[in-house]
Order: sequence, then C-alpha cells, then structure tokens
Amino acid sequence: MNQQDMTDRVAIVTGGSDGIGRATSEMLASRGAHVVILARGMEKLEATRDAIKAAGGSAEIHSVDLTDAEAYGALVETIASDHGRLDMLVNNAMSVHYGPLDHLKMEHWRKDFAVNADAVFAGTRSAIIAMRKCGGGSIVNVSSTTAIRAAPFMSSYSASKAAMIQFSAVAAMETARDNIRVNCVVPGQVQTAANEDYASKAPELAEKTVAAIPMGRGGLPTELAQSIVFLLSDASAYITGVALPVDGGKSAQLYLPS
Ligand SMILES: NC(=O)c1ccc[n+]([C@@H]2O[C@H](COP(=O)([O-])OP(=O)(O)OC[C@H]3O[C@@H](n4cnc5c(N)ncnc54)[C@H](OP(=O)(O)O)[C@@H]3O)[C@@H](O)[C@H]2O)c1
Repeated sequence: MNQQDMTDRVAIVTGGSDGIGRATSEMLASRGAHVVILARGMEKLEATRDAIKAAGGSAEIHSVDLTDAEAYGALVETIASDHGRLDMLVNNAMSVHYGPLDHLKMEHWRKDFAVNADAVFAGTRSAIIAMRKCGGGSIVNVSSTTAIRAAPFMSSYSASKAAMIQFSAVAAMETARDNIRVNCVVPGQVQTAANEDYASKAPELAEKTVAAIPMGRGGLPTELAQSIVFLLSDASAYITGVALPVDGGKSAQLYLPS
C-alpha cells in the first residue's frame, strides 16, 4: 500500500490560501485528499481552490477569522459532520506582532495568543472528538524556530508558538491510544511572499539573516509542505508528540564568533 496515498481522506488546513498553507493544501490534494481550506480573504481562497481543481484535485473553502477560536472550533465540528469524517488537521494560520516589550500592547499579545494558541486548542479539541469517531487521524501544528530559540522583538509570537508545542505534546499523550497523532513542524526562515517583500525592503539585513542559516538559504514553502504532509501521512505512523525543526540547521547551530 502506498503510504502517501490519501484518497477519500478529509483534511482541514488553516491559512491554506497562501505560503506554506497553500503549498500544503495543494500537496494534500495531489495525494487524493479532499482539502477544506480556511482563511479570511475570499480572493486568495478562491484562487487556491480553483488551482487545486484545475490540477484535478478536490477542495472547498470557508472564510473564517481564527481570532474567534470558538467559531473556528465549531466550524471544524460542522466540516467533520458534513463529510462524515475528519482525518487530518493542519493548524497553520498565524498572527505576529513585532516590537520591543515596552511598545507591545496587550491587544497585540492577545491577538497572537488568540490565533497561535487559543484557536489551536479549539481546532485540535474539535478534531480529536471527530477523529475518535472515525478511528483515528493526524494533526500537525505549525510553530516557529522563535518558539525554541529567543529572537528579540517577537515576544508575543514566540511565546504563543512555544505554548503550541507543549500543548501539542500533551494532546499527543492524551490521544495516543485512539490512533490519533499530534505533531508540530518548527519552520525557520521560509521563502514566502511576505518574507520576500520584507527582504526587498531591507536587503542587507535579509542577506545577513539568510547567510546565518547553516544551509545558506531559506526554505521553500514546498519543503515545509513535504514535512507537514509526511507527518499527516501513514509514512509517519509511529511518530507522535514531536516538534520537528525544518530550518536548514538553524536550531541546531551553536554560534561561535570567528
Ligand atoms: N514564513 C516563514 O518564514 C515562517 C517561519 C516560521 C514559522 N512560520 C509559520 O508557518 C505558518 C505559515 O506561515 P506563512 O509565512 O506561510 O504565512 P502566510 O504566507 O502569511 O499565510 C498566512 C495564511 O494564514 C491566513 N490567516 C492569517 N491570519 C488569519 C486569521 N486571523 N484567521 C484565518 N486565517 C488567517 C492568511 O489568509 P488571510 O490573510 O486571507 O486570512 C493566509 O492564508 C505560520 O504558522 C507561521 O507562523 C513561517
């Protein structure tokens, strides 16, 4: 049996209309899964769904703002009930605020936690209930190197992404006997449109950031998608509770001045 084949399986991908999420949605559909893509903006959602369908895949879209974690949790329940099953969930959408601690406001902290932690709890909780009913499933939560290595000026994002890692490990322990697996991927720098835009505005800084990655380049969205799809697939059947760095070696690096 092909362990990458996902025919007849149903997957939900949050933030699946751009960057890593879009690459993941397209890869899941190419393996035969029906992909339910969630994000706020309809234009990018429609473009992603149309591209998947044009390539022969199966997808549907829903507009939802993950700052409302309860609404998201309820939507996961509805999707699972409409399809009679839920096999895979990717919590990939994010919120990020930058700034030194004395400038960061409580509303920024709360928004990053709402999307990166509260919504991950609500979605995972609903998914686990649905997955238990259909004999198992796999959940992948998308964290960040900033959750495990300290980067200044990203306190709310980093702390919420760290909460996601420990929450995922606990969820993995609670569901291990139900044939449900819960894992994280931990991306470093990835060549998404937002990062490319930032790089064009601060080219010197962007160059230095990339040069400090052991592999000397940022990751491709498809390289992240490959690791996410691996953790969703039967090829990783004995892996649960891990936080897998996908970062060109960045988190393993010991910095020594030359
Ligand atoms: N790119 C990197 O270098 C990098 C590094 C480390 C970790 N990561 C992590 O990887 C994941 C994907 O990042 P990315 O760079 O691929 O993101 P991206 O290209 O900016 O895409 C973000 C996606 O999330 C959706 N989204 C954002 N806020 C949302 C909200 N409140 N409710 C619902 N959907 C929302 C966006 O669509 P709408 O705006 O239309 O809602 C979009 O589909 C994130 O969890 C991020 O923290 C990325």
